[in-house]
Amino acid sequence: MIARQLSSTLRIALLPALLLPAVVLAQPHDASVANHQPHYFDIADFDMQPGDVNYAEHIAPIMQRSCVQCHRPGGAGPMSFLSYEEIRPWAPVIMYRTAIRDRMGAMPPWYVEKDIGITDGFESDYSLSDQELAMIQAWAQNGAPRGNPADEPPPIVFTEDDEWALGEPELVLRSQDMTRPAVGPDWWGDIGIVPTGLTEDRYVKSIEVREVNDIPQDQGTNTVGGRYIFHHMTYQSGVLSEDGGYILPDSTVSWPIHEVGRNADVFPDSAGRLLQANSALHLQAAHMHSNGRETTGHLEFGITFFPRGYEPKYSRRGPRTGNGIDLDVIPNQANQELSNYVVLQEHTKIMAFEPHLHAPGVRMCLEAIWGHNQFTLNCVGYDHNWVKQYIYKEDRAPLLPKGTVLRTIAYMDTTEANPNLADPRNWAGGGRRSVSNMFIDLGYSVTMTEEQFQEEMAIRRAQMKDRNEYDVGCPLCWAPVPDYSSSSDDD
Ligand code: HEC
Repeated sequence: MIARQLSSTLRIALLPALLLPAVVLAQPHDASVANHQPHYFDIADFDMQPGDVNYAEHIAPIMQRSCVQCHRPGGAGPMSFLSYEEIRPWAPVIMYRTAIRDRMGAMPPWYVEKDIGITDGFESDYSLSDQELAMIQAWAQNGAPRGNPADEPPPIVFTEDDEWALGEPELVLRSQDMTRPAVGPDWWGDIGIVPTGLTEDRYVKSIEVREVNDIPQDQGTNTVGGRYIFHHMTYQSGVLSEDGGYILPDSTVSWPIHEVGRNADVFPDSAGRLLQANSALHLQAAHMHSNGRETTGHLEFGITFFPRGYEPKYSRRGPRTGNGIDLDVIPNQANQELSNYVVLQEHTKIMAFEPHLHAPGVRMCLEAIWGHNQFTLNCVGYDHNWVKQYIYKEDRAPLLPKGTVLRTIAYMDTTEANPNLADPRNWAGGGRRSVSNMFIDLGYSVTMTEEQFQEEMAIRRAQMKDRNEYDVGCPLCWAPVPDYSSSSDDD
């Protein structure tokens, strides 16, 4: 299926290329918003006819898997997609929003490019396959027929627990209430300490942060931010001081950022994160904004733990990549490309990729340069309405040898075509406010010993069918395994 799609893409791509001077082929990737082309497919390529596709058998299951967690009453989406009657009028818009796939505005919000790098490598991937896009397109163009209602999957019944995307947490911590006026300047500050109440050390398996506020559930808004007052929150945890007033500085553990539109964190089995006995969260940097109505709300942190006695295999973090400081973002220009390079000092496993740009951001790629080879690990589109993290599956995560140059590439578009920009005429440098820019990968990696590195590579090799298969995230997977037995301790 993928091969078929690839070959038709190649045909289309090669035709004009053959007629143009060779220099055109050397042009960098066109990541401009204006160039965003929807991915349209021919249903016949999937051995189906347009008339074969109906809501009951084909579309409803897609909606249940990838859409209704947001598109339901009280969900984050502006309209409900629980029934045929609700979905049908939206068929043409659904066709378009799903076809833009990995670009700004795409639905569902998940922007991993499927034609480059590590494909099918992520946890909780609810994106749509080529065949699913083809079915939606054939269905919408064929009058969005219902099919036989008896074939529809049973409706999903949402309960209170579904307020948590990851299900009921074991521990829920709550921030203090904050109120923002209907209209006012943004506010940034420390909103205090939240004791965990833990009496023993525990390792965290997942953490999900949600805002609970007094905006009526039936009041849909057209922007993601319009439903919330917390724009984002950076926080850490650690052991409480004796008077409970602060966190002991040498005990701090950092946690992934909470941001509007960001998905929950599930830590890999090999890298759970510590929450100590007598610890607390310190909500040190809340960025709050007014949304047009006076709103009172708080954050809830839903936590699940690894079983007692669990110890993480990896606990040393790899370097952070990106450059948040020396940014020079030119006004009114598409395809601005910025690069950052980090040389890995130790063998490194990349656990999560989380592009972090601001409004001009449209794409980010992660490349590994090893010897004379340059591998694209992944490229993802970016939409500043949604900051997404992509957590690698343990057995697909890049395994990079020490000495690898990790290159992060950001693409910016400051033309009028980018709807997220406040004003395309302004130059902007780096800075923390949304009108300034950032260029960082907020994901994380862990460092590995030589033994752990070889052990993980052996698992990868065993998964590959034969020597012709290649894992782009594992440049040394097929390298001869060093014979450690012959080396003595005093080498
Ligand atoms: C994580 C939450 C989330 C998921 C999952 C999600 N949506 Fe959305 N959707 C939203 C939000 C929020 C908006 C409004 C902001 C926007 O238009 O981008 C939206 C907007 C839309 C719109 C545009 C409506 C308009 O007014 O033009 C369509 C169509 C849509 N979604 C379809 C889908 C489909 C189809 C899926 C599943 C394949 C899906 N969405 C999955 C949250 C979500």
